[in-house]
Amino acid sequence: MSNQNKKIVIDPITRIEGHLRAEVEVDETGVVKEAYVSGQLFRGIETILKNRDPRDVGLFAGRICGVCTNSHFRGAVTCVEDAYSLVIPKNAEIIRDLIAMALFIQDHVVHFYHLHSLDFVDITSALNADAKLTSKEAHKYSTQPLRNSHTHYEEVIAKLKNFVKAGKLGPFGNCYWGHKDYRLTSEQNLIIVSHYLQALKFQTNISKAVAIFGAKTPHPQTLVVGGITSVADMLNPGRLNDYLFIIKEAKDFIDRAYLPDMKLIATAYRDEIKSGLGRANGNFLSVGGYEFEDEQKLFCSGVIYNHDFDNIAGFDESKITEEVDCAWYSKDGEVDYTDLNEDGSLKTAKNDDKYSWIKAPRYDGKTMETGPLARVLISYKNKTPLINSFVDEFLKETDLELMDLSSTIGRNGARAIETSYICEYIFKLVSRLIQNIKYYDTDTWTKYEFGELPKETKGRAFLEVPRGVLSHFVNIKNQKIDNYSVIAPTTWNATPKNLDGMRGAYEEALVGIKIDDTSKPLEVLKVLHSFDPCLACAVHVIDANGIELSRYKIKTL
Ligand code: NI
Repeated sequence: MSNQNKKIVIDPITRIEGHLRAEVEVDETGVVKEAYVSGQLFRGIETILKNRDPRDVGLFAGRICGVCTNSHFRGAVTCVEDAYSLVIPKNAEIIRDLIAMALFIQDHVVHFYHLHSLDFVDITSALNADAKLTSKEAHKYSTQPLRNSHTHYEEVIAKLKNFVKAGKLGPFGNCYWGHKDYRLTSEQNLIIVSHYLQALKFQTNISKAVAIFGAKTPHPQTLVVGGITSVADMLNPGRLNDYLFIIKEAKDFIDRAYLPDMKLIATAYRDEIKSGLGRANGNFLSVGGYEFEDEQKLFCSGVIYNHDFDNIAGFDESKITEEVDCAWYSKDGEVDYTDLNEDGSLKTAKNDDKYSWIKAPRYDGKTMETGPLARVLISYKNKTPLINSFVDEFLKETDLELMDLSSTIGRNGARAIETSYICEYIFKLVSRLIQNIKYYDTDTWTKYEFGELPKETKGRAFLEVPRGVLSHFVNIKNQKIDNYSVIAPTTWNATPKNLDGMRGAYEEALVGIKIDDTSKPLEVLKVLHSFDPCLACAVHVIDANGIELSRYKIKTL
């Protein structure tokens, strides 16, 4: 760090699943010159999994995270099925997809409104809004804005005033109100605050959709190695109707609130988007998945290097490696935790210092961005029939280009586009299920005799989950878990540097941004939140022996 540079530490970064710390070095003009992003919580679920029965692994792995519960549950069950070469019935796959899709919708909406919107929305300014003008403003972004009456907006203002009067700001406390970076008018602020409050109810409803086929949420219970157990729910038309009713309501919220709010923000922050604020290095990874018709998938797989959208490479799992040079693990995989210098500062001054519990996954030796933006870009360029109309419409209405999506706000735009697209897909998926049942295909489980399965085997699973690419790897010996490894979406995006010195997506996106007031680094929060960090998910121990897991070399040197 040069003498003029100033160090700013922000910890924690997120409102839930926290434990993320960012340290940035800014020059005298407030421009970020270097960034170190650190996972601050040690996990170790893989250690707990050792010597367990492979059929139980899903229930344990689901506990990796309190938010992404179903994603890990499914990842674990799927990688055990891969190890035993078990192909599950189509109906079981559809039920698993229906649980997963409801979770995508829940995660994305909660992420924007409750974890990220206050980086754009100034609540104190919303108090000064004119209810009539607000109603008019909302019509600019939607032909049928959600709950757009003057009376409703007046009620929202009254509610906010009560919060302020009582001095109980609750979720609206501890923000940088009045910061220069807030650009919305009072009326625009009020529109999104109104949706923020409605999204609280939305969250409850969409959780019910997860629970219809998952038995409960968080931590659904109905996936088993070989299939699913919610057979009675699948065969009950009433349950299917309940599920579809919730999705229809969700779609209404997405089309009349979520997508219009993205368009509003994209318009208000246009110059910021055009300047590429929050752009990472342009390497994107998607493993694709969720088949809805033969050969047609919800998401395409592929790899983009350096924003070269016209040359999408195929995804090749053998190109994944993991390093730990700058993570708190020794070369032989033992925990090696020393994060403070003698003066109490975080040990991040040099690239070869260790500064995170997060491992450093690389694809083809490069850091990658994964998540909705990667999926949208890769699927769009592969001309997936469904998604293209959603992307084209969003770009047309906001007068943006595809490249503009590679930014803080574009990342959010991609997430909203994806949410809307997923709703359409769900309807197709449900009709497929109904067709199957109608023609007496009610299979939900692939029968196997555990004792006859191979004693020693390996498996892996690659899934797209709300925050990006999730992979689980298992080694089985004597029909017990011998080794387990996870690379979660946030592991990719929040990776520390390695001896290669390469910044991960979070760090790259931070470098170059300008912080107006270093005591209120709203700009840093905004960039990092746009990735939807999930730190509980991100931290995983490495394989202690550096041995080959499945077909991957988990390198610890
Ligand atoms: Ni998570």
